[in-house]
Amino acid sequence: MIARLSVLFLALAVVAAHAAAQTTPLLSPPAAFDRATIRRGAQWFAQYCLSCHSVKWIRYDRLTRDLGFSKDAVRQELMFPGGAHFAQGMVPTLSARDAAAWFGVAPPDLTLEARLRGGAWIYTYLRSFYFDPTRPSGWNNHLFPDAAMPNVLAPISGIRDAKGRLIQRGRLTPRQVNQVIGAITVWLEYTSDPSKLERERLGPYVIGFALLLSVVAYLMKRAYWREVS
Ligand code: HEC
Repeated sequence: MIARLSVLFLALAVVAAHAAAQTTPLLSPPAAFDRATIRRGAQWFAQYCLSCHSVKWIRYDRLTRDLGFSKDAVRQELMFPGGAHFAQGMVPTLSARDAAAWFGVAPPDLTLEARLRGGAWIYTYLRSFYFDPTRPSGWNNHLFPDAAMPNVLAPISGIRDAKGRLIQRGRLTPRQVNQVIGAITVWLEYTSDPSKLERERLGPYVIGFALLLSVVAYLMKRAYWREVS
């Protein structure tokens, strides 16, 4: 019994220590889950993330169906200049082995990242980079300490020090940067559950149908009972 209790206390202590270590509060992305936002997120993702990260379970042709991209738009905005096959998943030209050699860790596939970590985590992570000259890449991250990923959004977001002060301005205002990061987050929420878009479109019809069915059922019940009594 005592052994069991001590195991329980140990487990609790580990959980408490973990909770205490995670001091960066998670922020919700200021972006709606709709087609326009997901499209914008896909474009930013292709421009800033796809060079390292794959979303290999999403095929290019799915984006023409779900998001209304034309084939030309997919070629120009989402594929690399060399092109790719429409039936192929979105994968970088950089091989996982080269990436692992350069960064020490291979950039993981992000198709299911939003299920693994949640949208708020991704949004907060992308906002938490700071300049750290002691790191090999020159970057560190408040939410994911010693992450091997560089701050690829620095040209638009600018550079911040560990205290959050802006050392160098970026091309966009902080508000615009949050919108870009929000759109990228919503895009990754879509890739982790593409049918959510379809579900949200069908939702009102399903509820309408259920309501109609209950009215019909009620009228039938009244008609039957009138005959019984
Ligand atoms: C230059 C290559 C590179 C680019 C470009 C890049 N990343 Fe990363 N990313 C990495 C590496 C390497 C890691 C692994 C970090 C680690 O485990 O220390 C990583 C990790 C991540 C993680 C955390 C994965 C996890 O759960 O462990 C997320 C989320 C992420 N990247 C999102 C993005 C997004 C979104 C973009 C585009 C804005 C992007 N990355 C651009 C290299 C890159």
